[in-house]
Amino acid sequence: MPKRDILVTNALPYANGPIHLGHLLGYIQADIWVRFQRMQGHTVHYICADDAHGTGIMLSAEKAGISPETLIEGVRQEHHRDFAGFHVDFDIYYSSHSEENRELSSYIYQRLQEADRIATRSITQLFDPEKNLFLADRFIKGQCPKCKAEDQYGDNCEVCSSTYAATDLINPHSTISGATPVLKESEHYFFRLPEFTTFLKDWTRSGTLVPAVANKLAEWLDGGLQEWDISRDAPYFGFEIPDAPGKYFYVWLDAPIGYMASFRKLCDEKGIDFDAYWSTGAETELWHFIGKDIINFHALFWPAMLSTAGFRTPSFISVNGFLSINGQKMSKSRGTFITAETWKAHLNPEYLRYYFAAKLGSTPDDQDLNLEDFVLRVNSDLVGKVVNIASRCAGFINRNFQNRLSAVDAEPGLTAEFQDAAAEIASLYDQREFSKAMRAIMALADKANAWIAEKQPWVLSKADPQSPEVQQICGTGLKLFRLLVIYLKPVLPQLALQSESFLNCDPLQWADAEKSPGEHVINTFQPLISRVDPKAVEAMLEASSGSMGKKSDSVAQDAPLAKDPVSEEIEFPDFAKVDLRVVKIINAEHVEGADKLLKLTLDLGLDAQGNAVQRTVFSGIKSAYKPQELIGKLTVMVANLKARKMKFGLSEGMILAAGDGKDIYLMAPHDGAVPGTRVT
Ligand code: 2FM
Ligand code: ZN
Repeated sequence: MPKRDILVTNALPYANGPIHLGHLLGYIQADIWVRFQRMQGHTVHYICADDAHGTGIMLSAEKAGISPETLIEGVRQEHHRDFAGFHVDFDIYYSSHSEENRELSSYIYQRLQEADRIATRSITQLFDPEKNLFLADRFIKGQCPKCKAEDQYGDNCEVCSSTYAATDLINPHSTISGATPVLKESEHYFFRLPEFTTFLKDWTRSGTLVPAVANKLAEWLDGGLQEWDISRDAPYFGFEIPDAPGKYFYVWLDAPIGYMASFRKLCDEKGIDFDAYWSTGAETELWHFIGKDIINFHALFWPAMLSTAGFRTPSFISVNGFLSINGQKMSKSRGTFITAETWKAHLNPEYLRYYFAAKLGSTPDDQDLNLEDFVLRVNSDLVGKVVNIASRCAGFINRNFQNRLSAVDAEPGLTAEFQDAAAEIASLYDQREFSKAMRAIMALADKANAWIAEKQPWVLSKADPQSPEVQQICGTGLKLFRLLVIYLKPVLPQLALQSESFLNCDPLQWADAEKSPGEHVINTFQPLISRVDPKAVEAMLEASSGSMGKKSDSVAQDAPLAKDPVSEEIEFPDFAKVDLRVVKIINAEHVEGADKLLKLTLDLGLDAQGNAVQRTVFSGIKSAYKPQELIGKLTVMVANLKARKMKFGLSEGMILAAGDGKDIYLMAPHDGAVPGTRVT
């Protein structure tokens, strides 16, 4: 097998929030792949850093009364700790705010200038006259120009989903100072991306992406690329553009260059040859693992920049989808915004690694962490199948045979089948088909368990505790366990470490699957992994939950107020943000596969143009109401709640109901109330 030299990166997380399970999906995926390649004997440098620049970080630091440098260093350390806690084992975890990155970003920018790939022109943007800064769309709010909903961001309306320019908002205000923005002109620098269309059409089809991702990019490439604005005006936390005082590189210009900068730092520390990984024509591989929301930055801007600046382009970009929890987007108020830290305080990080491995494939599909399924899967596979083999066999060897495994193989055919599987499992890992690899490994574990059950060493041992047959059966069982540990080691490094200690062997490599340990002395068995306790999952959700309570699929099961203490006091403007409307239920139906939900169609009366306004809401009131008895009833809904994608469809708001966890009572206005009327 030819030796590979691979540089692997994970997307640089922003230095402005904690690492959560959504992040971990892509980082665990990359780490498994890296560990697998290393077990094959390949050289892998695995790098990451925090993405430290931008207006958001500048404002957070200002709010906290500290310098941005202090803020980002604290967050960097937390992020690094969280990744390490999940066994994501970077060779370096640096910051994009480094001297190496400043130099490389300036260098690349100058090469782009020399190649005449940078344009400059004046643009007009909204400006905060109090804070004296230009406002990105997410810092502007106002009334939606279409549906007139209040408090909408500068690019799209979360109530009616229309998109618009920030300048179209009615009564816009800066979310930073509250001031009314004014229009102001300034000169910006643009990367001439459209000139790379032909190059990118080839590059994206050259084996660097799975077809699903290349197809997505083809839509953009065929639709016509736009020039990319790479500058931001002061004040901005970032790198000043050479020879352009007061102009800074947009965070997304220097973020991917942060990959090179982190690696530069590692090379300087470890004496690695930087050019061997970045020069044009390099024979090494460069792999980026990213989430699907940032494909354009990595597969369009980045290869275009690299090739212009005289560097190699990535060998492969691996893309993961989004993570939902119990079928829903992670949400603080629903207790499903689960941080790495909270998970680790309640549950073994390796459980999550295994669950993700059991779901992940090579395509950028969204994944759901269903916590009931998670408990079942981990308990059934890891505890019930894999570790069970060791715990069934070890006792006999420890007690009756002075820890000695016999050289005799009690079932050579089965051992050969286990060993022969190494090539297929390796190929699945290499192609990032982890779920298929886990299935193949668990099928082997099933076979080992069935064989041990058939041999019944416990029966033989009862008749003769020193029976050589028992020693051979249990020894063979443990050698099969050893093979499973080799195959699972990329996913479960901690379990592998404990198993290596129990099996009294050197760190296992993939090639060790071909070797037989022969006669061998092991150590006393210690429990390797315990069953997931559903109570620990509950406690983890509890710890993650915000003031709204936890994990039910509608407000109806939330917040039994009679028993709960009244929530924290709020100001009237907070309450006034909630747009409550009288609605009429014009249709109600069961939802196939949902235990608690009914699908409701709600009439909100007429809009300003006289058009009927209707909404679909999924509500957890099935236990209390039959669909037919709801049709025609009036109730009250939260009309400006951001629509949520649920497993069964989009829920465009919530209806109000009281619930104590047992009974549910729909709120209703007195007869005669007109749909659409605001509740005040
Ligand atoms: O989307 C994000 O979280 C970005 N901070 C990712 C940057 S990846 C790379 F380009 F640095
Ligand atoms: Zn709207």
